[in-house]
Amino acid sequence: MQARTIREGISWMGAIDWDRRLFDSLIPLPDGTSYNAYLVRGTERNALLDTVDPTMTDVLLSQLDEVPRVDYVVAHHAEQDHAGAIPQVLSRYQEARVVTTPRGKPMLMDLLPIADERFITVDDGETLSLGDRTLEFIHTPWVHWPETMSTYLREDHILFSCDFFGSHLATTDLYVTEEWRVYEAAKRYYAEIMMPFRPIIRKNLDKVAERRLDLIAPSHGPVYGRPEFILDAYRDWVSDAPKNEVVVPYVSMHGSTAQMVNHLVRGLAERDTKVHQFDLTVTDVGKLAISLVDAATIIIGTPTVHVGPHPLAVYAIHLANALRPKARFASVIGSYGWSSRVAEQTVERLPNLKVEFLEPVLCQGLPGEEDFAALDRLADAVAQSHAADGLVSQAAALPDCQT
Ligand code: FEO
Repeated sequence: MQARTIREGISWMGAIDWDRRLFDSLIPLPDGTSYNAYLVRGTERNALLDTVDPTMTDVLLSQLDEVPRVDYVVAHHAEQDHAGAIPQVLSRYQEARVVTTPRGKPMLMDLLPIADERFITVDDGETLSLGDRTLEFIHTPWVHWPETMSTYLREDHILFSCDFFGSHLATTDLYVTEEWRVYEAAKRYYAEIMMPFRPIIRKNLDKVAERRLDLIAPSHGPVYGRPEFILDAYRDWVSDAPKNEVVVPYVSMHGSTAQMVNHLVRGLAERDTKVHQFDLTVTDVGKLAISLVDAATIIIGTPTVHVGPHPLAVYAIHLANALRPKARFASVIGSYGWSSRVAEQTVERLPNLKVEFLEPVLCQGLPGEEDFAALDRLADAVAQSHAADGLVSQAAALPDCQT
C-alpha cells in the first residue's frame, strides 16, 4: 500500500495486516488490523506520527523513500505495534528526534534501542511548530498504557489519537464508510483494552472533545470523517449507566448446566431483558468483552470441577474482573455432582466489580422442578433489580405506535 493523501501535506502511511488473528497472544482479531502512521509536512519541518509494527517496517520505510526529511517522530504510545519501527526510521533520518511524554521516554528506552539524546519530551498542552502547522500534544493517559498521548493538529483540526478511538480492522478504506462495521470493531477494541480505565477514558474524552475536530485519525482502522459518530459511541460506553442487558457466559459438561442456562435465558427474555448467551467452549472472547460494556448483570453458568468453577468459567470470571465493566448485579448458576463451592469462589474472584450478588441457583445433578422454579425467581430478581434502577427494555422505550 502506498502513502495516501488526507490533505495537502498530510498523508496516511503505514501497513494493513490482513492476516493477523491474535494480538498480545490474547486478543482475537477476526478482521485483521492496520498500523497507521501519518506524515505531516510543514513549511519548516516534517513530523512522522507513530510508526508500525516491527513485522511491517519495510512497508513504512518504502513509503518514506519519497520523503527526504523527517525532523520529528512522534511516539504517542510505546507499545511496539506503533513504536516498533522507530529505530529504523531514526537510522535513516539522523537529525530526527523522538517526541513523547516524560513517562513514554523510559518505556521506549526499555523496549527499543533508542539513545537518550534522540528524545524530546513534551508536557500536556505543549506545542511544536512545523512552520505553518502546529502540533499540540494532549496527554491522554491509560488509553491504554500510562504514557499515552494524542496530537492535535491545530490549523487542520485533526486529532491523531493512536489507540484511542482505534479499531482492529483491515480495510482499504482510508475513511470510515460503514459505521456499523467500525462500531463493532471499535467497541471490541475499547472493551478489551480501555474499559478497565473507564473513568480516566471519560476524562480524556472530554479533554479532546472540547476542541474542534474535523477528523480523528487513529493508529488502527480507518479515519473518522464524521468524528461525532465515534465520540458519541465512546460517551455511551464510558457512561456509568448500564443497559437492561444480561451476559450469561457458561460451560456445561453433561448438559445439566446448559438446561439451567436455557431456562434462565428464556425467562429473562420473557421479562423483556436482553440476554447475551455465550457457550465458553466456542466463544470469541472479544464478543464476550463487547457484551460486558453495556450489561447490567453478569450470570456465570458453570458446573463444579474439583469443588470450584470449571476452568473455562474461571477464565470468563477473570476476564470480567480484569475488565471492570459497569455491571451492577451478578450471580452464578450450575449443576454439581456431590459438593460445590462455586458460589463462594465466584464472589472471591470478582473483587473489582461493584456488584450486588443475587441468590445463586445450584443443583445436584439434573435440574428438577424446584431448580427451575429457583431460576424463575432469579429471573424475577434480575428484572426487578433492573426496573428499580430505571433500566427499561428496548420495547418499553419505543413510542406507542397504536392508534
Ligand atoms: Fe495499538 Fe496499545 O497498541
